[in-house]
Amino acid sequence: MASGFDTTTQARMQTNEANWDARTSVHVASKFYGLDGTMDAFDWFAEFEWEDLGELSGRDVLHLQCHLGTETIAFAHKGARTVGLDFSGEAVIQAKRIAEQAEVEIEYVQSNVYDAVEVLGGGRFDVVYTGKGALCHLPDVNRWAVLVAELLRPGGRLYLVEFHPLLNALGPEPREATQELLLRHDYLEGCGAEENDWPYTYTDGPALQGETASYQWVHSLGEVVNALIDVGLRITKLREVELLPWQCWEEMVPAGKGWWRLPDTEPRVPLMYALCANKSG
Ligand SMILES: C[S@@+](CC[C@H](N)C(=O)[O-])C[C@H]1O[C@@H](n2cnc3c(N)ncnc32)[C@H](O)[C@@H]1O
Repeated sequence: MASGFDTTTQARMQTNEANWDARTSVHVASKFYGLDGTMDAFDWFAEFEWEDLGELSGRDVLHLQCHLGTETIAFAHKGARTVGLDFSGEAVIQAKRIAEQAEVEIEYVQSNVYDAVEVLGGGRFDVVYTGKGALCHLPDVNRWAVLVAELLRPGGRLYLVEFHPLLNALGPEPREATQELLLRHDYLEGCGAEENDWPYTYTDGPALQGETASYQWVHSLGEVVNALIDVGLRITKLREVELLPWQCWEEMVPAGKGWWRLPDTEPRVPLMYALCANKSG
């Protein structure tokens, strides 16, 4: 499993895997993921994402760290041959069930991201999509960039849509109505793993039954961009946007189609970023 990492990092990823297994049943029943029919796969995408992704019909699309497949299903609906990969066995079981219920064909694979090339084969995908809470769980972005480049066909494209490292640096959390957003956490990488022990997950729902410990790693925008440049991918677009797909703070206002932004009284800061990077054809 994910060979090439030191034993401490391997153990941390194993803890994360158990933590995601424990989160899965809570997420499936949560209002946040809306799997009772209150949310649609397309609710997880902003308009600009479809502009950037372009035509997907007949394309081979891989969703790395797909979790319950709540976004993955949208690619299948767009006519893509779709594969989802995640290391949580519980998440993959649920993703398969959810796809079956939605009557869409998706191949779900249980694997660590770092083993994706061995498991799926290299040079196989037109689009690798990932993000919205994915990279912060990975210890090494350089190794991630190498495998993304290997998974892509010549002419293929990575589309990464991620929470902005500035969002992750903001605090305090939870935020009282009177408190200003302040820089409370690292923006820059290099401080090692952040260890958490949270009895609850980020969705609504009961306390976790199982592993509550987890590890995260900070990855700045510069670190991600340079990792992709170093493996020869050509970055063709980098958007920084003020949108989030959920209401992170009470004062956020609707931005249309279920998305949220800070009100005009707050400074305009990026909360997500989206990046297209092409493999030369
Ligand atoms: C927040 S989800 C991101 C997917 C999606 N945006 C969502 O919100 O449902 C993070 C996913 O990354 C997976 N994950 C974390 N580290 C991983 C790794 N090393 N290999 C494969 N999957 C991993 C977890 O199991 C989890 O399903």
